[in-house]
Amino acid sequence: MNAPDLTTAVGELTLAGPVMAASGCGGTGRELEPFTDLSSLGALVTRSVTLDARAGTRPPRAVETPSGLVVDTGLQGPGLQGFLATELPWLAQRKVRTVVSIAGENLGEWAELARRVALSPGVAAVEVNLSWPPGSTASRDSFAAEKIVAAVRRDIPRGVVLLAKVAADPHTVVDVSRAVLKAGAEAVVVGHGPAALALDPGTLRPVLGGDAGRLGGPAVNPVALRCVWDLHEALPDVPLVGGGGVRSGLDALVMLAAGASAVQVGSALLHDPGAVRRITEELSAQLEQRGIARVADLVGSAHRSTSETGDTP
Ligand SMILES: Cc1cc2nc3c(=O)[nH]c(=O)nc-3n(C[C@H](O)[C@H](O)[C@H](O)COP(=O)(O)O)c2cc1C
Repeated sequence: MNAPDLTTAVGELTLAGPVMAASGCGGTGRELEPFTDLSSLGALVTRSVTLDARAGTRPPRAVETPSGLVVDTGLQGPGLQGFLATELPWLAQRKVRTVVSIAGENLGEWAELARRVALSPGVAAVEVNLSWPPGSTASRDSFAAEKIVAAVRRDIPRGVVLLAKVAADPHTVVDVSRAVLKAGAEAVVVGHGPAALALDPGTLRPVLGGDAGRLGGPAVNPVALRCVWDLHEALPDVPLVGGGGVRSGLDALVMLAAGASAVQVGSALLHDPGAVRRITEELSAQLEQRGIARVADLVGSAHRSTSETGDTP
C-alpha cells in the first residue's frame, strides 16, 4: 500500500495532516521550532490573543497531577497589536498553517479582535475561545456562546474559517454546538477540560498562582471522545476537531474514528515538543497497518460499523 493520504478538511480549512498543536501549547511557534519541522503541523493554533497585553497569572501556572495538568495561564501575551506585529508575521514567513485563537472580554472586543485578525495575511482560520474571560459560562451556555460567535462572524470575511472551541462537557456540548453553528461557526472544536484544583499537601494552599485552573491530559480523553461521538451522532455533517488528552497516534486514530476530522494536541506538547510530528507518524503507521488509504475514510467510521452490523453492545 502507498503511504496513507493524511490530508483532511475541517470545513473549508484544508490541512496537510490531521494533527494540530492546541491553543497555548505550541507557544508562538518559535518554542517548537528546535524540536519539530513546523511544516509537519496540520496547523498551529496560537495562544489566545487578547485585545490588550496581559501579564498573565502569577506563577506557577501549571502543575502535574496523576491525571494530567492543571493549568491557569491567565492568557499572558503581547495583546493584539504585538501579536500582529511580531508573532503572526513570523509564522506567515514560515508558511505555518495558522489558526488564530481569540479571547474577548465583551462583545465589542470580540468583534474588534475578529475584524483585525481576519484581515491579516497568513490567517487560515479563527478559533473563538469561549472559555474567556475567567468565570464566563459561554463555553457551556448556548445563549452566551451564540451571541459571541454572531459578533465575531459579522466581522470576518467568508474566506476565513471560523472555529468555535466549546467545553468538553457531554452534558452541554451538543446544545452549545448547535448554537454556535446557528451563529455562523463552520466547525466545532472540543474543547476545554473541566475546572480543576491542586492543593499543595504540605501547605494545604493552592499550588497555582491563580489558585484554580483547568484539567488537560489523559483523564480528559474519554470525556472529549464522548463529546466527539455525541456530536457526530447529532450533527453528522458538521466538521469537528477533537482535543483532550491526545498523546499518541492511536489516540488520534480513535478520535478521528469517533467523528473528528482533525485532532488537537495540548499538554502532551509540554512533555514532548515534537509530539505533533510523532503522533502524525504514529497515525500514519496505524492507517497503513489497518489498510486505511485516507484519513477521510477513517472519519466517523466507528459510527458506520455499529449501524451497519446492527450490533448492540
Ligand atoms: C500551557 C497551556 C496553555 C493553554 N493556553 C490556552 C489558550 O491560550 N487558549 C485556549 O483556548 N486554550 C488553552 N489551553 C488549553 C489547550 O488548548 C487544550 O484545550 C487543553 O489543554 C486540553 O487538551 P490536552 O488534554 O491535550 O491538554 C492551554 C493549555 C495549556 C496546557
